[in-house]
Amino acid sequence: MGDVDRNGMPRARVRTRGAPLVPLSQIAASPVARLKTGIGELDRVLGGGLVPGSLVLLGGSPGIGKSTLTNMALGNIAGAGHKTLYVSGEESAEQVRLRAERLSPSALEVPVLAETDLGAVLEAIASHGPSVCVIDSVQTLRCSELSGAPGSVGQVREVAARIMDLAKARSIAVVLVGHVTKDGALAGPRVLEHLVDCVLQFEGERERPYRELRALKNRFGSTNEAGLFEMRQGGLVEVLDASARFVAEATRAPGSVVLAAMEGSRPLLVEVQALVAPSELEQPRRVVSGLDRNRLALVLAILGRHGGISLGSHPPYDVFVNVVGGVRVDEPGVDLAIALAVASAAREVALSAQLGESNPNGRQAGPGRRASAEDAPCACFGELGLTGELRWVGHPERRLAEATRHGLAGIVAPVGSGREAREAPTLRHALALVLPAGRNRPASLAA
Ligand code: TYD
Ligand code: MG
Repeated sequence: MGDVDRNGMPRARVRTRGAPLVPLSQIAASPVARLKTGIGELDRVLGGGLVPGSLVLLGGSPGIGKSTLTNMALGNIAGAGHKTLYVSGEESAEQVRLRAERLSPSALEVPVLAETDLGAVLEAIASHGPSVCVIDSVQTLRCSELSGAPGSVGQVREVAARIMDLAKARSIAVVLVGHVTKDGALAGPRVLEHLVDCVLQFEGERERPYRELRALKNRFGSTNEAGLFEMRQGGLVEVLDASARFVAEATRAPGSVVLAAMEGSRPLLVEVQALVAPSELEQPRRVVSGLDRNRLALVLAILGRHGGISLGSHPPYDVFVNVVGGVRVDEPGVDLAIALAVASAAREVALSAQLGESNPNGRQAGPGRRASAEDAPCACFGELGLTGELRWVGHPERRLAEATRHGLAGIVAPVGSGREAREAPTLRHALALVLPAGRNRPASLAA
């Protein structure tokens, strides 16, 4: 019993020379207890809930909804009978109350401390002894023993380290809120990433309602998960069937395609839109939203070299590509969607979801399953190789099932994806499946 500390964790011991080494299998490890926040998407991204004694850093740009999310979570936890504490260094207690009034009744149960002095905050945490504590934000607290201004690297580090010591000693789960600008430039919370157990990023466009929560680091779960929310009048609402919405809103116009993406372990159907327009600039524009800019550059190069659609010069074209809804797609399967959307925009022809004669497998849509350009948008997924080949991507069966569930048929996909897909070995094959050759093609874009 003597080699266990008060948290039940084994005490570190100095190994004496010659003492036997123990295989990992013989080291006792009990499953971590979790505190549910009651927000399904948040719990999932955390890996099942908050771990007592752990530190979570929640980053995001101002106005994205960090305070709303943490208020809601604390409200639920308080409603479930646990002790909570909300430390606000940014807003007054009245302002926090006004927000909580818009949320659930249990959000009003949460004790709030409006304070920026670290010593006072630590004292309050120690005497109140909450199970979960939110510090909103870590940049506003100030340690009086250090000279730097609040939010400076030295201050942020010290504040986080002191809070962590207390949290670990008392098994308090702490959420540190931190402001990060869009490009992550602000030094503040980034310096904490190695210190904390879990880093969550809350993203989205302020003007749009969708918000995405991602784990960038997680000692107690996967970093693959992402949660989708919508900011409404009564706070953040989990978006449980985002695919249905995005498919219903898909335009089916030239330049539009539905991507069967994977968001962590979940399939998600999103619309990818492209616009191609003659440029007045010597360096034509390449503008992306929800995608990596370098990926667009790569796909355009492949499209030019292997797809017969060149947008670089004589005359140059501006290319805009957008993932609709403010969602971000960060996976290789997006390549084909970018290529097809841009090709469709360049040729000014809507992509065909119809299973035509050009279907290399000769499969036709069954009765009642028939998809046409009028009633269902064209869908796809796949990674593009530098030699123009279409490469297999993970979880084709989940992507196809999601597409089928939402009434899409004839999904263009790499070879090996599944029987219900229109499989294409190369970009050229994929283009031939969805773009009827020789229709409406501006001469300058011809192969
Ligand atoms: P907030 O959580 O304060 O953002 P952050 O802490 O990340 O800076 O809220 C951001 C915006 O959300 C704010 O402009 C108001 C809006 N909002 C709603 O639309 N509905 C709501 O129920 C709440 C509480 C806020
Ligand atoms: Mg806030």
